Amino acid sequence: MSGVNLGGGKAVIIGDPKTDKNDELLAAYGRFVESLGGRYITAADVGTRAEDLDVVGRHTAHAVGRTVAAGGSGDSSPLTALGVFQAMRAGAQTVWGQTTLAGRTVGVEGLGKVGYELVKLLVADGAEVIVSDVNPAAIARVVDEFPAQVTDNVVASSADVYAPCALGGTLTSTTAAHLDARLVCGAANNQLAQPEVEGLLGKRGIVWVPDYVANAGGLIQVAGEVDGSAADVVRERVESIFDRTAEIFDVSDTLGVTPGAAANRIAERRIDTA
Ligand SMILES: NC(=O)c1ccc[n+]([C@@H]2O[C@H](COP(=O)([O-])OP(=O)(O)OC[C@H]3O[C@@H](n4cnc5c(N)ncnc54)[C@H](O)[C@@H]3O)[C@@H](O)[C@H]2O)c1
Repeated sequence: MSGVNLGGGKAVIIGDPKTDKNDELLAAYGRFVESLGGRYITAADVGTRAEDLDVVGRHTAHAVGRTVAAGGSGDSSPLTALGVFQAMRAGAQTVWGQTTLAGRTVGVEGLGKVGYELVKLLVADGAEVIVSDVNPAAIARVVDEFPAQVTDNVVASSADVYAPCALGGTLTSTTAAHLDARLVCGAANNQLAQPEVEGLLGKRGIVWVPDYVANAGGLIQVAGEVDGSAADVVRERVESIFDRTAEIFDVSDTLGVTPGAAANRIAERRIDTA
């Protein structure tokens, strides 16, 4: 779906990044990735930053998203946020007939690397933002810089758009039954607690942008790092997430299936013809 010839898998280091993360642990992880001989390429995600990938990258040739100083393409979160924003614009076109979030209220859950950057793009576009995070410092940083309203529960807020940018599994049969938003589009991976939840959202007229489509910007960036693509080419690829999302809605309408099912069909077609 993201137009890059890499498949998806994630590695998980179990531990609290605030207390358990150290150079020794990251080095051990780097040696493990190296032992896979390039079959797996690692990058940053929740709880890790480009600087951590620099440490990992001293122990493996297969770490991307390192800092520019260390020869990498830098933090992938700004381009992940840009991709989410483009997907959200395409969603807004489907729901409200306008490719802007100006005048809408967007609830951003999670103000980490991606959520913070997404708030920046939304405010610049003229959207109002309602934000939440379990980390008070993350909230303070956003509230200091942007006119954001704070809540402890974005799902229960009156936002027009729900942008899950923390952890996955927040779309459950319960949240789908109570959500006020007309559009769901965010960076979090695995947003649906069960696949059936998308159908429940659809029955209530809520449009869901498949997570793996909306959040592909970081993947596109680090894939560009692997194949040596120029930064402006990578940015264009990320911006094309708008077109890809619009295509998914077209296929969804034509086939009478959910956007998630439409995205899966497009992805399966690409795999079949590879
Ligand atoms: N960073 C990327 O390039 C990238 C790419 C694709 C997908 N994603 C996904 O996007 C999401 C955010 O990634 P990130 O890199 O910004 O992570 P991050 O670790 O920088 O930030 C996550 C934020 O979510 C907050 N949080 C955790 N639980 C919460 C809750 N219940 N309610 C509200 N806030 C909560 C944390 O305090 C933190 O501030 C993750 O699901 C990640 O897998 C990230």
